[in-house]
Amino acid sequence: MSKKDYSRRKFLKNSTLTGLGVGLSTAVTPTLFAGVSKDAGTAAIIGGSPVRTKGWPEWPMWDPKTDEERVIKVLRSGIWSRGKVVAEFEEKWAETIGTKRCLATTSGTQALITALRQLNVGAGDEVIVTPYTFIATIDAILINGAMPVFVDTNPATSQIDADKIEEKITSRTTTILPVHILGLPADMVKIMSIARKNNLAVLEDACQAWLAEIDNKRVGSWGDAGCFSFQNSKHIPIGEGGAIVSDNEEFMDRCFSFHNFGRPHGKVVGTVSGEYVILGSKCRTTEYQAAIGLAQLKRLEGQTKIREENAKYLRSKIKDIPGILPYELSENATRAVFHIFPFRYKKEAFHNLSRSKFLEALEAEGIPCSGGYKPLNNMPYLKDAFQSKNFQKVYPKEMLDFDGYVERNQCPQTDQLCKEAVWFRQSMLLGSKSDMNDIAMAIEKIHKNADKIN
Ligand SMILES: Cc1ncc(COP(=O)(O)O)c(C=O)c1O
Repeated sequence: MSKKDYSRRKFLKNSTLTGLGVGLSTAVTPTLFAGVSKDAGTAAIIGGSPVRTKGWPEWPMWDPKTDEERVIKVLRSGIWSRGKVVAEFEEKWAETIGTKRCLATTSGTQALITALRQLNVGAGDEVIVTPYTFIATIDAILINGAMPVFVDTNPATSQIDADKIEEKITSRTTTILPVHILGLPADMVKIMSIARKNNLAVLEDACQAWLAEIDNKRVGSWGDAGCFSFQNSKHIPIGEGGAIVSDNEEFMDRCFSFHNFGRPHGKVVGTVSGEYVILGSKCRTTEYQAAIGLAQLKRLEGQTKIREENAKYLRSKIKDIPGILPYELSENATRAVFHIFPFRYKKEAFHNLSRSKFLEALEAEGIPCSGGYKPLNNMPYLKDAFQSKNFQKVYPKEMLDFDGYVERNQCPQTDQLCKEAVWFRQSMLLGSKSDMNDIAMAIEKIHKNADKIN
């Protein structure tokens, strides 16, 4: 059966032939049907035709006509290590986010490691963080010798539950590390007020949230510092890359110095003359990556608008399907940028069809998807860190007892979210309204076929 055969007549015939249970026991959502051009038929996973056979927008995007001149100029110049083009990219990114300064780094991970270190986070400190993030967030804490303390997620927003932060503050807590995960902003108004009240530093992991806003202020500019990633899947893809932004000149001078072997920079001149004034490392980015970044930056606002509009539209199309709980935004959020379009899947409304089967069924309809993260608050990498010499020398035994740690850091809402989440990747949201209709149609179709798929 071809796609155009999804007529209402055919759907009714199909559902009659295969048992009225589908049509009667699962609520039809007329609003969805009204907005979607095709009716549901047999699910592709059980032999029907897929909703969609054509592909999705490719990522990363690159236009040789407009994007290559600058990159080629850099390549031909022979100046490939950090120079004027990196400085120009940094200036533009600081201006975009609304901070005084920006430092480009080799990755978002190195940005986080560098920023935490220069915020003086180290051995014996506790850092409050969400378990619903990419591993790099937690690695950056552990590599600096600090202890992650996990706060549960608000499953509706996928963000750290700000109302649960204060109960986790101890005498060791120095920093809150909110992550604007999936490109949806965390509740920075609440988080900043808790941090100021308790005299804590705030480092924002905005590695997935370029241009997201709370109260019309860009994320990354709320805390003491913010970190971004420009890795290939990200909205400014340059291969590998990252950035730290902040208004604090002295902190940024220290970050610069650290990323350049501890050489003097700005106010970081040390008290003794000599070339290396602070303990340093190296995570400088290259001129050609910055040239790629400048080209990508030109597309960011336009693409962000498209993602935002498509996300809102798709949300409106699927919100009434029983068992589908689309994302909610944090209080005070004025812009989400949808690195991922998330919703929660309640199998009870799908004849107990497991999430993994639901994901398979969506893939069969031509809709790429995934179940997203696993919780990071109980994985073996933590044990490895706790068994390291650095940790053993600094922390009392009871803090490093893994079972005790897992018990203290339980996050039941995150556990449930990780079982129910369904993700669509950002580049799918760069398609048309009709592409969004395909996604909604596929979900609706699976809903109607759920008992047969089971
Ligand atoms: C939330 C988060 N933090 C940090 C990082 C690390 O960034 P990078 O891959 O550039 O090191 C990522 C990358 O995926 C991320 O998603």
